Amino acid sequence: MINNKFLVILFIGIFSITFSQNPNQLFSVKELTKTNKGMVVSAHSLASEAGALMLRQGGNAFDAAIATQLALAVVYPQAGNIGGGGFLVGHTSQGENFSLDYRETAPAKAHSNIFIDGDGKARTDWSQGGHLAVGVPGSIRGMEQSMKYAKLPWKILIAPAIKLAKHGFLISEEEANLLNTHRKDFIQYNAGKVAFVKDRPWKKGDLLIQKDLAKTLKRIAKKGAQEFYQGAIAKKIVKEMSRVKGLIQIEDLNNYKAIFREPLHFTYQDKDIYTMGLPSSGGIILGQILYMLDKENLSQYGQNSAEAVHIMVEAERRAYADRAEYMGDPAFTHDYTKYLLSPEYINSRWKSFSFGSPTPSSQFKNDKNAAKESTQTTHISVLDKWGNAASVTTTLNGYYGARVVVQGAGFLLNNEMDDFSIKPGVANMFGAVGGEANKVEPGKRMLSSMTPTLILKNKAVYMVVGTPGGTTIPTSVLQAIVNKDIFHTTASDAVNLPKFHHQWLPDVIYHESNFPENSLKQLQKMGYILKERSPIGRTEMIVVSQGGQTTAVADIRGDDSVAVE
Ligand code: GLY
Repeated sequence: MINNKFLVILFIGIFSITFSQNPNQLFSVKELTKTNKGMVVSAHSLASEAGALMLRQGGNAFDAAIATQLALAVVYPQAGNIGGGGFLVGHTSQGENFSLDYRETAPAKAHSNIFIDGDGKARTDWSQGGHLAVGVPGSIRGMEQSMKYAKLPWKILIAPAIKLAKHGFLISEEEANLLNTHRKDFIQYNAGKVAFVKDRPWKKGDLLIQKDLAKTLKRIAKKGAQEFYQGAIAKKIVKEMSRVKGLIQIEDLNNYKAIFREPLHFTYQDKDIYTMGLPSSGGIILGQILYMLDKENLSQYGQNSAEAVHIMVEAERRAYADRAEYMGDPAFTHDYTKYLLSPEYINSRWKSFSFGSPTPSSQFKNDKNAAKESTQTTHISVLDKWGNAASVTTTLNGYYGARVVVQGAGFLLNNEMDDFSIKPGVANMFGAVGGEANKVEPGKRMLSSMTPTLILKNKAVYMVVGTPGGTTIPTSVLQAIVNKDIFHTTASDAVNLPKFHHQWLPDVIYHESNFPENSLKQLQKMGYILKERSPIGRTEMIVVSQGGQTTAVADIRGDDSVAVE
């Protein structure tokens, strides 16, 4: 069990936050159980509160998800965004399950050699920072399209974000440290003054006011998404792009479309899982691993025991090798989803597993890469009192994306181009490699790992779950589900117990610092290479018990927080 002293449960009973005076986000509600109340979990208490405010005003889960995303774009600039993209997996109380893809796209001027320099070298510095790294943003179009399921007017949904940007909010220690770390980049990539840089280092409790962003949000409130894709904001984006080496033109913005897709669906135990399919690899990886685990009786071993980790790692290795080979935007590359999740394929994939001995990754393909650590992107889980649920993962990719702020508009642009395979075999910032399926092509969506997920039991929502963390996203979501449903932990332990990750290449098990020593020793004896790394993900989970009580859990690894209707 997680020691309760780590669960800082500071429940603030007054929910009538006005967002205009003395906004104080320096508390976190880490766990809450309620009956027949809507709940929102996100990376920031003020953003969760913005969502919960919509629920209190009669809105549903989709209203709350939109308001939370917009508020995160203000109070969580490291990942919350209007200049990035995301995915929504939704369930309505009428029984409809859907997914909405508002992933960024490569600009029309992009091509497969865009990140190769004159010496034939892959330039990850170009794909990870500055104007060339920016994909056509999808978030505002995505939120506009989500309105199909929402109840409240757009202006109401955006109001908390405007107030937070205009009046400011007190930044957390984590945000202060990250802003200080990226100060050099903000100065390098931006011509004018940006809200994220000040004369002295940021510290916890400093007020961050974003006047330009407030104006931009006001414009979007008044004129809708078209202001972002056709109007004055679109022009500002193009101007910013043309200032340096950016590729996005007005046509890219005019042509951007969010896409409603069938969610990826598979059954597991007595439950139905609805998650994100291509252009995210997340849902396929999650399904493949769960199916492979089904071949072994995992519950006979302890949670995070060496045996359980060994089996899970072997399944992860196989699924991530498939990610590199087969997965990309289905509009550009063959969609192997059915094949990869078929019993025949899963059986053949698992044949090479031998209990007690690791299968070297080189058996699947020869390559060597080093994964970098990162926890960017951010997730929102919402369940309302009617049973509507929204699982949203949204991203700028790296911390603060490309670190490019649109001049005069005050918002950050993504560095999502790095999620393409910029050269076959060259690792991206998450250490993931890819090939043809995920090469850069004009108008194409870059492969993602985001795994916003809903689990239904008897057609009603049982779990809403997701996390940030680049390529660690599918394995984090997997562990949260496996902890809860195979090892029968509490929801809080399912989220907060130490995590591990394997992604085929590099052939290493990454683990958090508090991972059980005994398991690590046994895994080492089996022949695994182990590497301690920074905390993995920020999982936001909502679980409905058989008695109908809803428990929402915000990850203790960050400032994440639950808010209630
Ligand atoms: N940018 C992280 C992802 O989409 O997986």
